[in-house]
Amino acid sequence: MSQDLLNIARERAERYLTEIDARRVFPDEAAMTGLEEFEEIFPEQGTTGGQVLELLDRSGAPATVASAGRRYFGFVVGGTLPVTVGANWLATAWDQVASSKVTSPVMDKIEQVTSGWLLDVLDLPRESVVGYVTGATMATFTALAAARHKLLARQGWDVEARGLFGAPEIKVVVSDEVHVTVLKALSLLGFGKERVVRVPTDANGAMDISRLPELDAMTIICVQAGNVNSGAFDPAGAICDRAAPVGAWVHVDGAFGLWARASKELKHLTAGVEKADSWATDGHKWLNTPYDAGVVICRDQQSLYNAMSVSAAYLREIDSAAQNYMPEFSKRARGVEIWAALKFLGRKGVDELVTGCCHRAGVFARGLEELGLTIQNSVVLNQVVVSWDSPEKTEALMQAVQKEGTCWFGPTVWKGKAAFRISVSSWKTTEEDIQLSLQAIKQCMVAVIEETQ
Ligand SMILES: Cc1ncc(COP(=O)(O)O)c(C=O)c1O
Repeated sequence: MSQDLLNIARERAERYLTEIDARRVFPDEAAMTGLEEFEEIFPEQGTTGGQVLELLDRSGAPATVASAGRRYFGFVVGGTLPVTVGANWLATAWDQVASSKVTSPVMDKIEQVTSGWLLDVLDLPRESVVGYVTGATMATFTALAAARHKLLARQGWDVEARGLFGAPEIKVVVSDEVHVTVLKALSLLGFGKERVVRVPTDANGAMDISRLPELDAMTIICVQAGNVNSGAFDPAGAICDRAAPVGAWVHVDGAFGLWARASKELKHLTAGVEKADSWATDGHKWLNTPYDAGVVICRDQQSLYNAMSVSAAYLREIDSAAQNYMPEFSKRARGVEIWAALKFLGRKGVDELVTGCCHRAGVFARGLEELGLTIQNSVVLNQVVVSWDSPEKTEALMQAVQKEGTCWFGPTVWKGKAAFRISVSSWKTTEEDIQLSLQAIKQCMVAVIEETQ
């Protein structure tokens, strides 16, 4: 019975992934209308598993965004390597509580091995602790909880016991271009989104080191490896050199950009990042794993442990488990897709994935320029910021492309100007996809000109 259902799910998922590149990237009106099928009152009687899956596939699948396909360039969204989908299915069938050796020996082992591989491929301090969380937002939250612990403990303040009321003040420094999720993590930790010192950035959105405020032992500074718009890197090495002697904590938001460290050609962009105290990254962006694959890396194991650990009589047997380093208590077998991706790709494959996306972003940018569009950023990574002659035309073009359906990208504001943003992050995207997208953009430009005349 359950075998039948799993076969049905496999067949439907396989068909979805086979057909994905022949369909529109964003669902059409008919698909959106089909979602009304889900609007039913809570049924008194259940139904068969087959019917549940049938409804999901029939009415749900057409209304998905084809982010697992070749030509989705919105936000920073990778696809999923098939092996990571397979690993996810298997591990879901296992249904492990991946919190400790007692609850899951296999996940304890796999996450341990994956942690070593991550420190290797990202070339970060090998003594660091690695943890698996939902995404870079939670990774930053986790790392900054460790930072908060360390800075306050040095002042004799036990923040886990006493909270922040009356605590010595911590200064938080971020860039003008800080990702909104870092601010969210800061607010969740009681630091406040607005109580931060913002450092101005250069033309490509990297922190201007000459404008850095004084750092001291009560400072947390959040730097960025990969600006969400431009892909720029803050000068992490120089910042760490200023922070280390005074005891300030440096955290790196490297949600996607940290993976540049896996590329021989691009690693230089991240120089000095390894001197930081903590790092946040994702598997679900550039490593192309399914979602829920955030990674926190923290050099100071003890501070993370002190910030996160729990104890209770019934937890006696799992006292030194992963549970004591992570914000979640129960967690799914999260590290397994990252392990599968790294095992499948190897060092060479990860390098090719990351470097290849950047090459294709370069091809995209040159093609867009040839069409008469303006590239607003210096394309150092996989991100391209684009505008047309006026904010109105930029917006009209982006909307026309979204409607046309060959590819998809979204809006942004770059240095005060309306723009759209292209991110090449999928293992699936080929140069042919870039050319197809350029052709579609060209047609949309003609249509926008005709409409505005
Ligand atoms: C630079 C940067 N930091 C943090 C995040 C947050 O990551 P997540 O959505 O995995 O929490 C993102 C992307 O969404 C990002 O691009």
